Formats: sequence, C-alpha cells, structure tokens
Amino acid sequence: MKDTKHNSGAPEDPQRRTFLIGLIAAMVSFITLVLGGSGALYFLSPAWRGRKENWVAVGPISGLKEGDPIKIDFVQRKMDGWNVIQSPSSVWVVLQKGEWVAYDPHCTHLGCPYRWDANKKAFICPCHGGVFSKDGNVVSGPPPKPLMRYPTKIENSTLYILPEGAKA
Ligand code: FES
Repeated sequence: MKDTKHNSGAPEDPQRRTFLIGLIAAMVSFITLVLGGSGALYFLSPAWRGRKENWVAVGPISGLKEGDPIKIDFVQRKMDGWNVIQSPSSVWVVLQKGEWVAYDPHCTHLGCPYRWDANKKAFICPCHGGVFSKDGNVVSGPPPKPLMRYPTKIENSTLYILPEGAKA
C-alpha cells in the first residue's frame, strides 16, 4: 500500500540547497562590507590621522628689511575633525642679524597686547608698564619672562610660524 502522508524525510533538492547557501553567503558578505567599510572610514577620518605641524603662513617677506619690528595680522586655520576653524591673529616680526624672529603679540605678564615704540626702541605693554627690548628681553616692569617666540621658516618668500611651538 502507498503512503499518502506527507513525507518530511524526503531528500532536499540540491539546487535549492546551493541557492540558499549562496544567498546566506551573499548576505554575510554584504553585512561585513557595510560594517567593515564604515569602521574603516572611521579610522581614516582626520581625527585618527597622525598629528602634523601646523605651520601658519604669515605673509610675504620680500621688501621687509632689518629695522623696527612690524605687526602682521593673519588668519589662522585649524582642523578640528572635519571642521576648519579660522581665527584672526597677529604676530610681531623683526629681522635680526639675517634671521627672522616672530613674537607672540601678548605680554608675558598677564597677556595684554603690547606695541612697539619706535622712539624708545622698545616694546611697551600699556597694562602695567612692562617694557621689552627689541630682542624680546624684559627691560623693566612686572613681566616674569621674555616675549614668547614662534619657530619661523621661509618658503617661497613667505614667512611661516609655528604657533604651538612658542617658547620664551
Ligand atoms: S600685562 Fe603687560 S605688564 Fe602686565
């Protein structure tokens, strides 16, 4: 007599099995690609790149000669993740014995902006009377240390400074 019940133990169709295995493999590959790709993008983002020196172009120096210091205004651009932050800044520059010197424009006492007095040949801080010589040393007043100097370099007749490298 023939068995008319549903035969659950019947052999599967080999083509169907191959199709399902291929489908599962494709789905796993797709998920791996999506998750792995976004993870790779995260690690390639600017926040993970190695820190590099942020030299800032201050301006052309052709035509500038030894003499009184001059104040140069410039815009400093910094990367913060994907954002570019721009901040106006300034620097005092002077050519001394053939070498460019760049001073942070803030007094080393309490951070006031100082100015160059061409008659006295000195930097004068208006806040508490601090006086600095042309080479940045304290002449008188409360400043505890010389003016902060930025590292400088010249490329294509343009003066660059390294703000984070400032030291007295
Ligand atoms: S801030 Fe310059 S002397 Fe005080």
